[in-house]
Amino acid sequence: MKRCTGCGSNVEPVLSFGRMPIANGFLAEKDFSSEFFFDLSVGFCSGCALVQLIELVEPEKLFHENYAYFASTSTRMVDHFREFAAQAQEWLPDRENPFVVEIGSNDGILLRNFAVAGVRHLGVEPSANVAQEATRNGINTMCSFFNRDTAAQILEERGPANAVMGANVFSHIPDIHSVFAGIELLIREDGVFIFEEPYLAEIIEKTAYDQFYDEHFYYYCLSSLDNLLAQHGMIIADAEPQPVHGGSMRYFAVKQGTREPSQRVMKLRAKEASLGLNQKATYEALGGRITQSKKDLVSLLERIKAEGKRVVGYGATSKSTTMTNFCSIGPELIEFISDTTPTKQGRFSPGTHIPVRPYEEFTADYPHYALLLAWNHGEEILAKEEQFLKQGGKFITFVPQVGIVG
Ligand code: SAH
Ligand code: TYD
Repeated sequence: MKRCTGCGSNVEPVLSFGRMPIANGFLAEKDFSSEFFFDLSVGFCSGCALVQLIELVEPEKLFHENYAYFASTSTRMVDHFREFAAQAQEWLPDRENPFVVEIGSNDGILLRNFAVAGVRHLGVEPSANVAQEATRNGINTMCSFFNRDTAAQILEERGPANAVMGANVFSHIPDIHSVFAGIELLIREDGVFIFEEPYLAEIIEKTAYDQFYDEHFYYYCLSSLDNLLAQHGMIIADAEPQPVHGGSMRYFAVKQGTREPSQRVMKLRAKEASLGLNQKATYEALGGRITQSKKDLVSLLERIKAEGKRVVGYGATSKSTTMTNFCSIGPELIEFISDTTPTKQGRFSPGTHIPVRPYEEFTADYPHYALLLAWNHGEEILAKEEQFLKQGGKFITFVPQVGIVG
């Protein structure tokens, strides 16, 4: 039996997706035979409600000098983090010469806003390629995994932080206690810890099972975070839903006794209780919906194939690795995946090896159907693909349900 990394109680397996490759591991044909696989299963801790992966993929296999995700390539995310920075500035205690730290600062998408405003800042980022990009752009970056030791080093060299921030990173770090202990150490007594992660309630409500993949070790909600943060003397003072990455939550945590939780926090806790986020049965029910979703999608694609129509995937996302492998969907059902990212083009999707080709190949010879793998950018994509839809093309969706749009 696996022990919960949050509280030490037993973790019970609730969802199983089988053999899975690295989600972001788009690969060349020569590397097919050495591809790495692990068992993707999700567990639920009835002690503290923390949802977590059962098998751990070592962080060094995921975050390295060839890390594929450069956050600033999306203009929507650049805008999103500009707004994050503006809101964070308002939460800063004592705005005279503040010091802010970001964990998982990637290419500097958030910190650039502090750098241009002349705010003392530091990013902590272990993936060397994205860290170098940030440094090139004038953002102070330390190329390292953040943990309690790193926090102690920063405190000694630069003093306490008014704010510690992070986005889409705390789901990624198995040794979360070391990270939260480091944050507790690093922020001032009146400091704030602002972070944003995919929200478990959204995954459940949308049956967005493709959010389960190696990099996302934890799936957070207020209930489980309350338990984790309390072990480090912090509480959630406020929380605000965000529309990015398929549905996220931005949390504002402070040291215990410095603020009361907002009305919004109370309401969200009540909503989580009514959704049953702290009950095992909720995840078993989700498992049933996921199995049905797989059956619906595979039979739809097989029917389309039998009609002799073409299907192309739209957006080579990390998430789609879980879906394509769990549903065993390969090049026999999807001709290729169209993607605008040069480093993914010419490679193959992890596990089921669907070729990834430039977007221009999609527009040059429209298929009958485009499978919307990048559903988290659905609105933007549907607006952009007016021409495809006008000439009779249709999108196939699988989150929140299997269907045809257009
Ligand atoms: N914050 C950015 C990037 C998210 S991707 C955004 O929201 O767009 C997650 C980032 O966290 C990667 O750049 C990865 O290298 C980094 N990361 C992973 N483990 C980390 C750790 N222990 N400490 C700091 N950063 C980490
Ligand atoms: P992303 O949203 O980062 O999802 P994940 O975290 O699961 O990897 O990935 C979106 C992918 O889709 C990225 O490779 C870029 C691609 N994309 C397009 O090809 N065209 C588009 O119009 C959009 C919005 C994204």
